[in-house]
Amino acid sequence: MAMTNKKPNLIPPYGGKLVNLVVEGEERKALIEKASHLPSIKISSRNLCDLELLANGSFSPLDRFMGHKDYERVLTEMRLVDGTMFPLPITMTVDKEAYESLGEEVALRDSHNNLIAVMKVEEAFPYDKEREALLAYGSTDSKHPMVSEMVRWGNLCISGELKVVNMPTYYDFKELRRTPAEVRIQLETMGHDNVVAFQTRNPLHRIHEELTKRAAEAVGGSLLIHPVVGLTKPGDVDHFTRVRIYKALVEKYYDKNNTALSLLPLAMRMAGPREALLHGIIRRNHGVNYFIIGRDHAGPGVDSNKKPFYGPYDAQDLFDKYAAELQMKSVPFQALVYLPDTQEYVEVDKVSAGAKVMDISGTQVRDDYLAKGKLLPEWFTRPETAKILRQMYPPRHNLGFCVWFTGLSGAGKTATAEVLTTLLLEHGKHITQLDGDVVRTHLSKGLGFSKEDRDTNILRIGFVASEIVRHAGVVICAAISPYIAIRNEVRKMVGEEQFIEVFVDTPIDVCASRDIKGLYAKAFRGEIKGFTGVDDPYEPPVNPEITLSTVGITPEENARIIIKLLEDKGFLLSDSVGIAD
Ligand code: ADX
Repeated sequence: MAMTNKKPNLIPPYGGKLVNLVVEGEERKALIEKASHLPSIKISSRNLCDLELLANGSFSPLDRFMGHKDYERVLTEMRLVDGTMFPLPITMTVDKEAYESLGEEVALRDSHNNLIAVMKVEEAFPYDKEREALLAYGSTDSKHPMVSEMVRWGNLCISGELKVVNMPTYYDFKELRRTPAEVRIQLETMGHDNVVAFQTRNPLHRIHEELTKRAAEAVGGSLLIHPVVGLTKPGDVDHFTRVRIYKALVEKYYDKNNTALSLLPLAMRMAGPREALLHGIIRRNHGVNYFIIGRDHAGPGVDSNKKPFYGPYDAQDLFDKYAAELQMKSVPFQALVYLPDTQEYVEVDKVSAGAKVMDISGTQVRDDYLAKGKLLPEWFTRPETAKILRQMYPPRHNLGFCVWFTGLSGAGKTATAEVLTTLLLEHGKHITQLDGDVVRTHLSKGLGFSKEDRDTNILRIGFVASEIVRHAGVVICAAISPYIAIRNEVRKMVGEEQFIEVFVDTPIDVCASRDIKGLYAKAFRGEIKGFTGVDDPYEPPVNPEITLSTVGITPEENARIIIKLLEDKGFLLSDSVGIAD
């Protein structure tokens, strides 16, 4: 197609003009000086994302966290007070105590105390979290990520004029972080009036490539791949990994003349249909007039009864209802599946009866491919995506793990740990041993046996263990670790999946009869105080990964039980020398 020099007519921003809350020059200098004397609040990462989108006009015409009247009308009618359709509340909440310490103005700071903005506190109002959950997200089930998050919010919403002096700083993928105004310039150079946007919080697989390319063709214009890099659903693939994938694919498989990739620091609400409308408003502000909506758009998964929160195509229906008002159109898709016989991607409603279809779910990607180190097949994803995912999610046998022995003094923890170490070395693993007695001679030197000191000792071991595991090492810890709560803290620090708790369940009389160090005898005579199992409690684990008996069973037999479990879990390869492909 011949290029014309005509500047395209991109759709104007929602409400006519882009909001810009960033102040510059002398005004900025004066505000920074003033802010140093103002009370300040550290805002949440959600509010920081919201503030950035308010500041750069992504939420236009909204120019502040919502006041009471906007909030009410948005909840009940999806409209701002002036009648503009706006689907979800955008609020900043504080505790009552924090509110009382605020003056007429407040400095808003990020988690590192960097000054971001100054807010005039024009109003504060209480709100009902359950009511908001029900009206905005359609549920009060805490399986909804917004509902569980709201529990931590303050009880008052505050609102007022905002002046932004510093936009949040980023050091990653700077070249891809563009404001609505910058995206508009980029789209203008592509020369098309029509622009279709693709929203995503997931890696791009072949199906998504199909969706985006078909949509661009259908609208006869440019494509904006616009992934969310703010907050997404807990447990999603992190944005560093995803953006590497998007970059690799755009570089190799898309037409550069009509494809733009830009990152959006949105904090998602996982609010399905209502969120699709918010996504539409944001994209319209970036110059987009068509929006891809597939199956279960911005879906939060299933509720406590395993029922989806929203219908799979509710987002398409709601978007279409407001499309005229938004001056945008949806590009709807049914779920796409792969037909191996004809090697095509087809919407499910167009698959002929009896045709063989293939698909791989997110759970299968993790458990059947990544955990086993298997490369995802080419019909499902491009080799670049498969390799980046495999690199970032190494197979279990390349991950670190922590074997945590717990039990009474003399139960047989160290003896079993010694044999286990040798067997793991035989499997080609690098091992760190953290034995309670040895740790007390250096890392925890000076700590005694009070509850507090014992907890500190275990938390120190846990901290070191978690660092080792994070860097793919194997660590074997053997300490009495008598208290459940602290062991569970350590479990959280290390990570549930990579923590193997081994309860060495030896009766106290057997421990006492072994008494190599003569400690039980002293404790029974009252010469040592606070001895675990004698005059200090031992809390046995509730659901340990393994319980070992040491009566009539050798340390070697027990160590081999642990090896078997590690093989079953995929941490060790069961071949004789442990070399992966
Ligand atoms: S979302 O939370 O951002 O919507 P995701 O990144 O998974 O999640 O989806 C991005 C867009 O692609 C959404 O519009 C979604 O409906 C669509 N989509 C994802 N997977 C499919 C699929 N298999 N078939 C059709 N549409 C899909």
